[in-house]
Amino acid sequence: MRARLSTDFERFRGALPRDFAAHVRDAYRIDLSARYLGYQLPHPFGKGSGQLSLNTEQLETDRAAGLAFVVLKTLIAETAAGERSMGAWAIHETRMTVERRQSLNGREGWTTTWKGRGWDRSLADYLELVRAGRDLTRGGAEGILVVPSVKYNLPRLGEPFVEAEYTHTTAQLAAAWGDGPLPIEKDFSPTLAGDPLADERRQILRWIGEIPERIRRAAPDGARVQLKLMNARFDDAFQVEMLAAAREADGVTVFNRLFDAERRVAYGGWDLSDRNLRVLDLAAERRLVGPGLSATGNICSGRILLEYASRGCESGQLHTFLQLPLREYPATAGSRTARALHTLVFHPVDGLIAGMLDLEEQGALHRHRGELRFLDIASKIHRRDAEDAENRV
Ligand SMILES: Cc1cc2nc3c(=O)[nH]c(=O)nc-3n(C[C@H](O)[C@H](O)[C@H](O)COP(=O)(O)O)c2cc1C
Repeated sequence: MRARLSTDFERFRGALPRDFAAHVRDAYRIDLSARYLGYQLPHPFGKGSGQLSLNTEQLETDRAAGLAFVVLKTLIAETAAGERSMGAWAIHETRMTVERRQSLNGREGWTTTWKGRGWDRSLADYLELVRAGRDLTRGGAEGILVVPSVKYNLPRLGEPFVEAEYTHTTAQLAAAWGDGPLPIEKDFSPTLAGDPLADERRQILRWIGEIPERIRRAAPDGARVQLKLMNARFDDAFQVEMLAAAREADGVTVFNRLFDAERRVAYGGWDLSDRNLRVLDLAAERRLVGPGLSATGNICSGRILLEYASRGCESGQLHTFLQLPLREYPATAGSRTARALHTLVFHPVDGLIAGMLDLEEQGALHRHRGELRFLDIASKIHRRDAEDAENRV
Protein backbone atom coordinates (compact mmCIF):
# COMPACT_ATOMS: atom_id res chain seq x y z
CA MET A 1 0.00 0.00 0.00
CA ARG A 2 2.85 2.37 0.79
CA ALA A 3 4.41 1.67 -2.60
CA ARG A 4 1.07 2.23 -4.25
CA LEU A 5 0.70 5.54 -2.39
CA SER A 6 4.07 6.78 -3.67
CA THR A 7 3.10 5.79 -7.20
CA ASP A 8 -0.30 7.51 -6.93
CA PHE A 9 1.28 10.65 -5.51
CA GLU A 10 3.61 10.83 -8.52
CA ARG A 11 1.05 9.99 -11.16
CA PHE A 12 -1.57 12.43 -9.82
CA ARG A 13 0.80 15.42 -9.85
CA GLY A 14 -0.79 16.53 -13.13
CA ALA A 15 -4.42 15.80 -12.18
CA LEU A 16 -6.41 13.93 -9.53
CA PRO A 17 -8.84 11.20 -10.57
CA ARG A 18 -12.32 12.64 -11.09
CA ASP A 19 -13.75 10.98 -7.98
CA PHE A 20 -10.62 10.56 -5.89
CA ALA A 21 -12.54 9.41 -2.78
CA ALA A 22 -13.90 6.46 -4.81
CA HIS A 23 -10.37 5.71 -5.99
CA VAL A 24 -9.10 5.72 -2.38
CA ARG A 25 -11.84 3.32 -1.40
CA ASP A 26 -11.07 0.92 -4.24
CA ALA A 27 -7.30 1.09 -4.05
CA TYR A 28 -6.73 1.27 -0.29
CA ARG A 29 -10.03 0.11 1.21
CA ILE A 30 -10.16 3.43 3.02
CA ASP A 31 -13.51 5.18 3.39
CA LEU A 32 -12.85 8.91 3.64
CA SER A 33 -16.54 9.81 4.25
CA ALA A 34 -16.87 12.77 6.58
CA ARG A 35 -19.61 15.01 7.96
CA TYR A 36 -20.43 18.70 8.21
CA LEU A 37 -23.63 20.04 9.73
CA GLY A 38 -25.34 16.69 9.28
CA TYR A 39 -24.40 16.42 5.59
CA GLN A 40 -22.51 13.34 4.48
CA LEU A 41 -19.34 14.32 2.59
CA PRO A 42 -17.10 12.20 0.33
CA HIS A 43 -14.01 13.32 2.30
CA PRO A 44 -13.27 15.80 5.09
CA PHE A 45 -11.63 18.74 3.25
CA GLY A 46 -13.60 21.95 2.79
CA LYS A 47 -12.99 25.66 2.49
CA GLY A 48 -13.47 28.03 5.41
CA SER A 49 -15.43 31.23 4.98
CA GLY A 50 -13.39 34.13 3.58
CA GLN A 51 -11.88 35.77 0.53
CA LEU A 52 -11.80 32.49 -1.39
CA SER A 53 -15.59 32.04 -1.41
CA LEU A 54 -16.86 35.32 -2.81
CA ASN A 55 -18.19 34.37 -6.22
CA THR A 56 -19.55 31.56 -8.40
CA GLU A 57 -16.27 31.16 -10.33
CA GLN A 58 -14.50 30.19 -7.11
CA LEU A 59 -17.30 27.73 -6.25
CA GLU A 60 -17.16 26.20 -9.72
CA THR A 61 -13.38 25.77 -9.51
CA ASP A 62 -13.68 24.10 -6.11
CA ARG A 63 -16.39 21.78 -7.34
CA ALA A 64 -14.31 20.78 -10.35
CA ALA A 65 -11.30 20.17 -8.09
CA GLY A 66 -13.35 17.80 -5.91
CA LEU A 67 -13.47 19.85 -2.68
CA ALA A 68 -16.14 18.49 -0.32
CA PHE A 69 -17.73 21.75 0.86
CA VAL A 70 -17.40 25.52 0.94
CA VAL A 71 -18.54 28.04 3.53
CA LEU A 72 -19.34 31.35 1.84
CA LYS A 73 -17.85 34.66 2.94
CA THR A 74 -19.56 36.06 6.07
CA LEU A 75 -22.54 38.30 5.35
CA ILE A 76 -23.27 41.14 7.79
CA ALA A 77 -26.95 40.83 8.79
CA GLU A 78 -29.40 43.67 8.23
CA THR A 79 -32.99 44.66 9.03
CA ALA A 80 -35.69 45.15 6.37
CA ALA A 81 -34.74 48.85 6.44
CA GLY A 82 -31.14 47.94 5.60
CA GLU A 83 -29.76 48.81 9.05
CA ARG A 84 -26.75 46.85 10.26
CA SER A 85 -25.66 47.00 13.88
CA MET A 86 -22.46 45.16 12.89
CA GLY A 87 -21.89 47.49 9.92
CA ALA A 88 -18.33 48.15 11.08
CA TRP A 89 -17.58 44.63 9.81
CA ALA A 90 -18.75 45.35 6.25
CA ILE A 91 -15.66 47.24 5.15
CA HIS A 92 -14.03 46.93 1.75
CA GLU A 93 -10.46 45.66 1.56
CA THR A 94 -8.89 43.63 -1.22
CA ARG A 95 -5.20 43.29 -0.39
CA MET A 96 -4.16 40.01 1.24
CA THR A 97 -0.61 38.89 1.94
CA VAL A 98 0.33 35.27 2.45
CA GLU A 99 3.45 35.25 4.61
CA ARG A 100 5.68 33.05 6.68
CA ARG A 101 5.02 33.17 10.41
CA GLN A 102 7.14 31.63 13.13
CA SER A 103 5.22 30.25 16.09
CA LEU A 104 6.08 30.90 19.74
CA ASN A 105 7.93 27.58 19.81
CA GLY A 106 9.89 28.40 16.67
CA ARG A 107 8.03 26.47 13.97
CA GLU A 108 7.76 28.06 10.52
CA GLY A 109 4.25 28.15 9.14
CA TRP A 110 2.02 30.28 6.95
CA THR A 111 -0.45 33.01 7.76
CA THR A 112 -2.60 35.35 5.68
CA THR A 113 -2.54 38.98 6.66
CA TRP A 114 -5.58 41.00 5.72
CA LYS A 115 -7.24 44.05 7.19
CA GLY A 116 -10.74 43.44 5.86
CA ARG A 117 -13.75 41.93 7.61
CA GLY A 118 -17.14 40.76 6.25
CA TRP A 119 -19.03 40.75 2.91
CA ASP A 120 -18.85 44.26 1.50
CA ARG A 121 -21.49 44.06 -1.23
CA SER A 122 -25.32 44.08 -1.02
CA LEU A 123 -27.61 41.48 0.52
CA ALA A 124 -29.14 40.97 -2.94
CA ASP A 125 -25.71 40.06 -4.33
CA TYR A 126 -25.18 37.62 -1.49
CA LEU A 127 -28.56 35.97 -2.08
CA GLU A 128 -27.58 35.42 -5.70
CA LEU A 129 -24.45 33.61 -4.53
CA VAL A 130 -26.52 31.52 -2.08
CA ARG A 131 -28.85 30.47 -4.93
CA ALA A 132 -25.85 29.41 -7.02
CA GLY A 133 -24.53 27.51 -3.99
CA ARG A 134 -27.88 25.83 -3.45
CA ASP A 135 -27.90 24.60 -7.07
CA LEU A 136 -24.39 23.20 -6.67
CA THR A 137 -25.39 21.53 -3.38
CA ARG A 138 -28.31 19.83 -5.11
CA GLY A 139 -26.04 18.68 -7.91
CA GLY A 140 -25.71 15.23 -6.28
CA ALA A 141 -22.51 13.26 -6.80
CA GLU A 142 -21.16 15.96 -9.13
CA GLY A 143 -22.05 18.71 -6.67
CA ILE A 144 -20.48 20.39 -3.68
CA LEU A 145 -22.07 21.49 -0.40
CA VAL A 146 -22.17 25.29 -0.16
CA VAL A 147 -23.19 26.94 3.11
CA PRO A 148 -23.81 30.64 3.86
CA SER A 149 -22.17 32.37 6.82
CA VAL A 150 -23.56 35.35 8.75
CA LYS A 151 -22.58 37.76 11.45
CA TYR A 152 -25.69 39.02 13.26
CA ASN A 153 -26.25 41.61 15.97
CA LEU A 154 -24.42 40.90 19.22
CA PRO A 155 -25.89 42.95 22.07
CA ARG A 156 -24.30 43.97 25.33
CA LEU A 157 -25.43 42.18 28.47
CA GLY A 158 -28.79 43.49 29.63
CA GLU A 159 -29.67 44.75 26.14
CA PRO A 160 -32.07 42.86 23.87
CA PHE A 161 -30.95 41.36 20.55
CA VAL A 162 -31.86 43.40 17.45
CA GLU A 163 -34.45 40.81 16.50
CA ALA A 164 -35.15 42.40 13.11
CA GLU A 165 -31.63 41.53 11.90
CA TYR A 166 -32.20 37.87 12.74
CA THR A 167 -35.70 37.66 11.26
CA HIS A 168 -35.08 39.61 8.06
CA THR A 169 -31.68 38.24 7.05
CA THR A 170 -32.50 34.64 7.97
CA ALA A 171 -35.84 34.73 6.11
CA GLN A 172 -34.13 36.11 3.01
CA LEU A 173 -31.45 33.42 3.13
CA ALA A 174 -34.03 30.69 3.72
CA ALA A 175 -36.07 31.89 0.72
CA ALA A 176 -32.93 31.83 -1.44
CA TRP A 177 -32.07 28.35 -0.18
CA GLY A 178 -35.57 26.96 -0.89
CA ASP A 179 -37.12 23.86 0.65
CA GLY A 180 -35.76 22.20 3.75
CA PRO A 181 -33.79 23.47 6.72
CA LEU A 182 -31.30 26.23 5.97
CA PRO A 183 -27.69 25.25 6.69
CA ILE A 184 -25.89 28.26 8.14
CA GLU A 185 -22.65 29.07 9.89
CA LYS A 186 -22.65 31.89 12.44
CA ASP A 187 -19.28 33.56 12.66
CA PHE A 188 -17.70 35.06 15.77
CA SER A 189 -14.64 36.54 14.13
CA PRO A 190 -11.10 37.21 15.40
CA THR A 191 -11.61 40.94 14.93
CA LEU A 192 -14.57 40.62 17.29
CA ALA A 193 -12.17 39.09 19.82
CA GLY A 194 -10.17 42.31 19.49
CA ASP A 195 -13.24 44.52 19.96
CA PRO A 196 -14.40 45.96 23.32
CA LEU A 197 -17.72 44.10 22.74
CA ALA A 198 -15.86 40.87 23.54
CA ASP A 199 -14.29 42.05 26.80
CA GLU A 200 -17.06 40.55 28.89
CA ARG A 201 -17.16 36.79 29.31
CA ARG A 202 -20.80 36.45 30.35
CA GLN A 203 -21.79 38.50 27.34
CA ILE A 204 -20.03 36.10 24.96
CA LEU A 205 -21.53 33.03 26.65
CA ARG A 206 -25.01 34.53 26.34
CA TRP A 207 -24.55 35.06 22.58
CA ILE A 208 -23.37 31.50 22.07
CA GLY A 209 -26.21 30.04 24.13
CA GLU A 210 -29.07 32.05 22.62
CA ILE A 211 -28.20 32.53 18.96
CA PRO A 212 -28.86 29.03 17.52
CA GLU A 213 -32.53 29.00 18.52
CA ARG A 214 -32.96 32.61 17.43
CA ILE A 215 -31.79 31.68 13.91
CA ARG A 216 -33.86 28.49 13.75
CA ARG A 217 -37.01 30.38 14.74
CA ALA A 218 -36.49 32.88 11.94
CA ALA A 219 -36.29 30.27 9.15
CA PRO A 220 -39.68 28.93 7.98
CA ASP A 221 -38.36 25.35 7.48
CA GLY A 222 -35.94 25.65 10.39
CA ALA A 223 -32.18 25.88 10.18
CA ARG A 224 -29.12 23.80 11.00
CA VAL A 225 -26.81 26.13 12.83
CA GLN A 226 -23.05 25.74 12.99
CA LEU A 227 -21.36 28.19 15.37
CA LYS A 228 -17.85 29.18 14.36
CA LEU A 229 -16.27 30.12 17.65
CA MET A 230 -13.50 32.66 17.89
CA ASN A 231 -10.31 32.43 19.85
CA ALA A 232 -11.26 34.91 22.57
CA ARG A 233 -8.52 36.82 24.35
CA PHE A 234 -9.06 34.85 27.55
CA ASP A 235 -7.43 31.60 28.69
CA ASP A 236 -7.89 28.05 27.42
CA ALA A 237 -10.44 27.31 30.15
CA PHE A 238 -12.70 30.01 28.73
CA GLN A 239 -12.46 28.45 25.26
CA VAL A 240 -13.78 25.27 26.85
CA GLU A 241 -16.58 27.23 28.51
CA MET A 242 -17.54 28.59 25.10
CA LEU A 243 -17.68 25.05 23.72
CA ALA A 244 -19.90 23.99 26.60
CA ALA A 245 -22.18 26.99 26.00
CA ALA A 246 -22.58 25.94 22.35
CA ARG A 247 -24.51 22.76 23.15
CA GLU A 248 -27.71 24.14 21.54
CA ALA A 249 -25.94 24.43 18.19
CA ASP A 250 -26.09 21.67 15.56
CA GLY A 251 -22.33 21.89 15.17
CA VAL A 252 -19.32 23.97 16.14
CA THR A 253 -16.36 25.08 14.02
CA VAL A 254 -13.24 25.22 16.18
CA PHE A 255 -11.69 27.83 16.34
CA ASN A 256 -11.25 30.96 14.17
CA ARG A 257 -7.89 32.75 14.04
CA LEU A 258 -5.92 34.36 16.83
CA PHE A 259 -5.88 38.13 17.20
CA ASP A 260 -2.63 40.08 17.35
CA ALA A 261 -3.62 43.06 19.52
CA GLU A 262 -0.44 44.98 18.70
CA ARG A 263 -0.66 44.75 14.92
CA ARG A 264 -4.50 44.71 15.07
CA VAL A 265 -4.67 41.76 12.67
CA ALA A 266 -5.82 38.15 12.83
CA TYR A 267 -3.21 35.43 12.30
CA GLY A 268 -2.78 31.69 12.04
CA GLY A 269 0.07 29.24 11.60
CA TRP A 270 1.28 26.77 14.24
CA ASP A 271 0.28 28.94 17.21
CA LEU A 272 -3.31 28.64 16.01
CA SER A 273 -3.36 24.85 15.59
CA ASP A 274 -1.37 24.41 18.85
CA ARG A 275 -3.96 26.40 20.76
CA ASN A 276 -6.95 24.78 19.09
CA LEU A 277 -5.66 21.25 19.71
CA ARG A 278 -4.73 22.06 23.30
CA VAL A 279 -8.23 23.40 23.98
CA LEU A 280 -9.84 20.36 22.35
CA ASP A 281 -7.72 18.13 24.61
CA LEU A 282 -8.94 20.04 27.62
CA ALA A 283 -12.54 19.78 26.40
CA ALA A 284 -12.11 16.02 25.90
CA GLU A 285 -10.74 15.65 29.43
CA ARG A 286 -13.88 17.33 30.68
CA ARG A 287 -16.04 15.14 28.45
CA LEU A 288 -17.32 18.14 26.51
CA VAL A 289 -16.66 17.03 22.96
CA GLY A 290 -19.91 16.40 21.12
CA PRO A 291 -20.59 15.40 17.51
CA GLY A 292 -20.74 18.13 14.89
CA LEU A 293 -17.22 19.52 15.32
CA SER A 294 -15.53 20.93 12.23
CA ALA A 295 -11.87 21.89 12.47
CA THR A 296 -10.21 25.06 11.27
CA GLY A 297 -6.73 26.47 11.79
CA ASN A 298 -3.46 25.64 10.06
CA ILE A 299 -4.74 22.52 8.31
CA CYS A 300 -1.75 22.23 5.99
CA SER A 301 -1.49 18.43 5.78
CA GLY A 302 -3.59 15.32 6.16
CA ARG A 303 -1.73 14.68 9.40
CA ILE A 304 -2.88 17.93 11.00
CA LEU A 305 -6.43 17.13 10.04
CA LEU A 306 -6.00 13.74 11.75
CA GLU A 307 -4.85 15.55 14.91
CA TYR A 308 -8.14 17.43 14.87
CA ALA A 309 -10.09 14.26 14.01
CA SER A 310 -8.64 12.35 16.94
CA ARG A 311 -10.06 15.14 19.13
CA GLY A 312 -13.55 14.74 17.69
CA CYS A 313 -13.62 16.76 14.42
CA GLU A 314 -15.54 15.24 11.52
CA SER A 315 -14.35 17.63 8.78
CA GLY A 316 -11.84 20.45 8.26
CA GLN A 317 -12.05 23.96 6.81
CA LEU A 318 -8.99 25.49 5.17
CA HIS A 319 -8.15 28.97 4.04
CA THR A 320 -4.42 29.71 4.07
CA PHE A 321 -3.31 26.36 2.61
CA LEU A 322 -5.54 27.05 -0.40
CA GLN A 323 -3.70 30.24 -1.24
CA LEU A 324 0.03 29.42 -1.03
CA PRO A 325 2.47 30.38 -3.78
CA LEU A 326 2.18 27.71 -6.53
CA ARG A 327 5.77 26.51 -6.00
CA GLU A 328 4.78 25.27 -2.52
CA TYR A 329 2.52 22.53 -3.89
CA PRO A 330 4.10 19.32 -5.21
CA ALA A 331 1.43 19.13 -7.95
CA THR A 332 2.42 20.60 -11.29
CA ALA A 333 -0.96 21.52 -12.77
CA GLY A 334 -4.52 22.40 -11.80
CA SER A 335 -6.17 24.99 -9.56
CA ARG A 336 -4.72 25.73 -6.11
CA THR A 337 -7.60 23.75 -4.61
CA ALA A 338 -6.77 20.70 -6.76
CA ARG A 339 -3.05 20.98 -5.96
CA ALA A 340 -3.78 21.30 -2.26
CA LEU A 341 -6.04 18.23 -2.28
CA HIS A 342 -3.37 16.22 -4.07
CA THR A 343 -0.89 16.67 -1.23
CA LEU A 344 -3.45 16.69 1.62
CA VAL A 345 -4.71 13.27 0.58
CA PHE A 346 -1.88 11.50 -1.26
CA HIS A 347 1.37 12.80 0.22
CA PRO A 348 3.28 9.57 1.08
CA VAL A 349 4.37 10.85 4.50
CA ASP A 350 2.06 13.66 5.61
CA GLY A 351 -1.09 12.89 3.65
CA LEU A 352 -4.40 11.62 4.99
CA ILE A 353 -4.00 8.10 3.59
CA ALA A 354 -0.46 7.76 5.00
CA GLY A 355 -1.66 9.01 8.38
CA MET A 356 -4.59 6.58 8.48
CA LEU A 357 -2.33 3.66 7.55
CA ASP A 358 -0.04 4.71 10.41
CA LEU A 359 -2.97 4.76 12.84
CA GLU A 360 -3.84 1.24 11.71
CA GLU A 361 -0.27 0.07 12.27
CA GLN A 362 -0.29 1.59 15.75
CA GLY A 363 -3.51 -0.30 16.55
CA ALA A 364 -5.42 2.98 16.96
CA LEU A 365 -7.74 2.39 13.98
CA HIS A 366 -9.30 -0.88 12.89
CA ARG A 367 -10.84 -2.14 9.68
CA HIS A 368 -14.56 -2.88 9.49
CA ARG A 369 -15.44 -5.38 6.78
CA GLY A 370 -11.97 -4.75 5.44
CA GLU A 371 -12.21 -0.94 5.44
CA LEU A 372 -10.59 1.82 7.46
CA ARG A 373 -13.08 4.65 8.06
CA PHE A 374 -12.15 8.29 8.64
CA LEU A 375 -15.22 8.93 10.79
CA ASP A 376 -14.23 6.16 13.20
CA ILE A 377 -11.39 8.39 14.39
CA ALA A 378 -13.70 11.10 15.72
CA SER A 379 -16.44 8.75 16.82
CA LYS A 380 -14.08 7.01 19.26
CA ILE A 381 -14.07 10.07 21.45
CA HIS A 382 -17.83 10.62 21.06
CA ARG A 383 -18.51 7.00 21.99
CA ARG A 384 -16.35 7.28 25.07
CA ASP A 385 -18.35 10.34 26.15
CA ALA A 386 -21.66 8.58 25.53
CA GLU A 387 -20.52 5.54 27.54
CA ASP A 388 -19.50 7.81 30.38
CA ALA A 389 -22.91 9.44 30.36
CA GLU A 390 -24.57 6.03 30.44
CA ASN A 391 -22.42 4.95 33.36
CA ARG A 392 -23.40 8.10 35.21
CA VAL A 393 -27.10 7.27 34.70
C1 LIG B 1 -8.29 36.66 4.47
C2 LIG B 1 -9.18 35.87 5.36
C3 LIG B 1 -10.53 36.22 5.48
C4 LIG B 1 -11.37 35.50 6.32
N1 LIG B 1 -12.68 35.85 6.42
C5 LIG B 1 -13.51 35.10 7.19
C6 LIG B 1 -14.89 35.41 7.27
O1 LIG B 1 -15.40 36.34 6.64
N2 LIG B 1 -15.67 34.63 8.06
C7 LIG B 1 -15.18 33.57 8.77
O2 LIG B 1 -15.93 32.88 9.46
N3 LIG B 1 -13.87 33.27 8.71
C8 LIG B 1 -13.03 34.00 7.95
N4 LIG B 1 -11.70 33.66 7.88
C9 LIG B 1 -11.19 32.52 8.68
C10 LIG B 1 -10.99 31.27 7.81
O3 LIG B 1 -12.22 30.76 7.34
C11 LIG B 1 -10.30 30.15 8.64
O4 LIG B 1 -11.18 29.67 9.62
C12 LIG B 1 -9.02 30.60 9.30
O5 LIG B 1 -8.25 31.38 8.42
C13 LIG B 1 -8.18 29.43 9.80
O6 LIG B 1 -7.80 28.59 8.75
P1 LIG B 1 -6.34 28.66 8.04
O7 LIG B 1 -5.33 28.51 9.13
O8 LIG B 1 -6.39 27.52 7.08
O9 LIG B 1 -6.23 29.99 7.36
C14 LIG B 1 -10.85 34.40 7.06
C15 LIG B 1 -9.49 34.06 6.93
C16 LIG B 1 -8.67 34.78 6.10
C17 LIG B 1 -7.24 34.37 5.99
